[in-house]
Amino acid sequence: MQEAHFMTDAVDSTDTPTPRRKPKPEATTIAGRKLKPSTLMMGHGFDPALSEGSLKAPIFLTSTFAFENAAAGKRHFEGITGKREGGAEGLVYSRFNGPNQEILEDRLAIWDGAEDALSFSSGMTAITVLMLAYCSANDVIVHSGPLYAATEGFVAKVLAKYGVKYVDFPAGATRQQLDDVLARAKDMASESGGKVAMIYLESPGNPTNALVDVEAVKDARDAALDWSCPIAIDNTFLGPLWQRPLDHGADIVCYSLTKYVGGHSDLVAGSIAGDKKWMDPVRALRNTMGGIADPNTAWMLLRSLETVELRMQRAGENAAKVCEFLARHPKVEGLGYLGMIKDARQQDIYDRHCLGAGSTFSVFIKGGEQECFAFLDALRIAKLAVSLGGTETLASHPASMTHLSVPEGRRTELGISDNLVRISIGIEDPDDLIADFEQALTKV
Ligand SMILES: Cc1ncc(COP(=O)(O)O)c(C=O)c1O
Repeated sequence: MQEAHFMTDAVDSTDTPTPRRKPKPEATTIAGRKLKPSTLMMGHGFDPALSEGSLKAPIFLTSTFAFENAAAGKRHFEGITGKREGGAEGLVYSRFNGPNQEILEDRLAIWDGAEDALSFSSGMTAITVLMLAYCSANDVIVHSGPLYAATEGFVAKVLAKYGVKYVDFPAGATRQQLDDVLARAKDMASESGGKVAMIYLESPGNPTNALVDVEAVKDARDAALDWSCPIAIDNTFLGPLWQRPLDHGADIVCYSLTKYVGGHSDLVAGSIAGDKKWMDPVRALRNTMGGIADPNTAWMLLRSLETVELRMQRAGENAAKVCEFLARHPKVEGLGYLGMIKDARQQDIYDRHCLGAGSTFSVFIKGGEQECFAFLDALRIAKLAVSLGGTETLASHPASMTHLSVPEGRRTELGISDNLVRISIGIEDPDDLIADFEQALTKV
């Protein structure tokens, strides 16, 4: 009794231990109403009862997971090795999966309306493991151009070492052009004794913002090839809010989560999502190679996903205001902004595929490199850095930075001129951003 009197804890002690809490059934619908991704980001895939009531998922820093008993261990490995139908479930070793990554993957899948998703240590790990899982020697990849430089390099230089060939087409290609390119790819594949293994798209392309007609690509694929050749698309620039490629015929969507999804320029990660049948071969290769996102990064991404809609909405609204200012400025020659498309074909693709114009665009300054450098060096809020999709505004000069290694002829073909500055707008006050661009343009 005396002891109880001195207890400072507000909770009375009791002889009856608290019964173990049962996991709560998860709510994804209420009264027939399907809950929106922004609601599900706060709790989907995580039950506090399984983690001491912790409201937020702890970071599970462990390399391995304990089996309940020897029979459970045997059962797991029978599943992995195919000795028992149904595969293996549960957690066993952190190169394969972990609680933070599984929650992250469940939530990523929701945004794209996908059955399954896989997380990776970078966007490039996601893309390269995906391609390796689908391509064998003598196969052909068909891809849109331009692609992110490292992706283009991986296809042209690394996969080439293993006998994989490629054929590309310009982002805005029409159905006829797509039919022609697929016919060429089929000929190449049959000559070398392989198959057309994958159609790989990036839309919008970097840094031109050229859009690919995903619906036309699907129709062309269905006409020329069987369904076993997946259409994958890098949706880093507009996803997950402003473009949902799985709704338009793509099979697999890829992300550099480093950009809008991570959104704070403080992590590097990637993902892919799609039907389980498309994810399974990639998961198997990831199990072998590694490359899964680490638990800490996965946890940071869970935090980022809670605000991704808010951040992207604000960045999109800011970009519209900034572009309206820039479009009317006498020192600006033009803009590569999806909210102000000049080409009828591109506008048609935009209207069918996009839900917003994004916040990453090109601004063409009157003059060349010298004028762009004067502008960039005068910016006081916007930072001079590569990357995009963060809370802060970034600006860069692709011709002398990210695309310097691209041969000049190809740069011209892609529209990456010396007077192009790429800007990724963040979530600052829009009038402050306009004031910064206005004062920087006076230095040009
Ligand atoms: C469109 C696009 N895809 C993929 C990547 C590669 O992503 P990560 O840097 O996360 O490997 C980038 C990076 O800039 C990108 O812009």
